[in-house]
Amino acid sequence: MRPGILDCGIIAAVQWQAKEFSDRTSIACKVTCVNDEIALDSDLAIAVFRVFQETLTNISKHANASHVQVKLVELEGLILLEVTDNGCGITDIDMEKQASFGIRGMRERCQQLKGNFHISGDSERGTKVTILIPMSNLEYQSGHLVGLENEFRGPQQPGPIKKKKKVSRL
Ligand SMILES: Nc1ncnc2c1ncn2[C@@H]1O[C@H](COP(=O)(O)OP(=O)(O)O)[C@@H](O)[C@H]1O
Ligand SMILES: [Mg+2]
Repeated sequence: MRPGILDCGIIAAVQWQAKEFSDRTSIACKVTCVNDEIALDSDLAIAVFRVFQETLTNISKHANASHVQVKLVELEGLILLEVTDNGCGITDIDMEKQASFGIRGMRERCQQLKGNFHISGDSERGTKVTILIPMSNLEYQSGHLVGLENEFRGPQQPGPIKKKKKVSRL
C-alpha cells in the first residue's frame, strides 16, 4: 500500500514522519536535505519511506537514543538516506538474530531496486543505517556505490587526539 503522504514528495514525507516520531517518542529527530525537490518513481519512494519507518521503529524499540539525525540527498542519480542515532549501537550478534526480519526485509527491498543497505553500530556512537539506490533502472557497479557512500560520509567525528610523530631531519 502506498502511504498517502508520498503524494507530497519524499522530502515532505520523511519530514512529516520524523516529526510524528519525535512527537510520539520524545526523541529529537532532525532531517537535513540539500535538494529542494527529489522526484522518485513510486516504487522507489515507497521503499525509501518504508525503510525509514522501520529504522525509526528499531530506534524506538532497541536504541535507547535521545537524538536521531537524518540525511536525505539526491546525488548523481542516486538517492541516499542516512539515519544515525546516538543510542547503544547495534552489534554483529544483533544483526544475525534468526527471528528478526526487519533488517533482512530492508536489505531485500534495497537489493530489489539494485541498491545497497548498510547498518553499523558502535557502543559509543550509536547506530547508522545507510541506503543508496539508483534512481533509474541503470545498474551501477557496486564499487561506484561504495565510492559515493564514502565520498558522502564526509569528515569523521573527531577521535582521540593523536600525538604528532616526530620527524627527524638530517
Ligand atoms: N537502532 C538500533 N540500535 C540498537 N540496536 C538495534 C537497532 N536496530 C536494530 N537493533 C538490533 O538489531 C536486532 C534486529 O533488528 P530487526 O531485524 O529489525 O528485528 P526486530 O526489531 O524484530 O528485533 C534488534 O532486535 C536489535 O537488537
Ligand atoms: Mg525491527
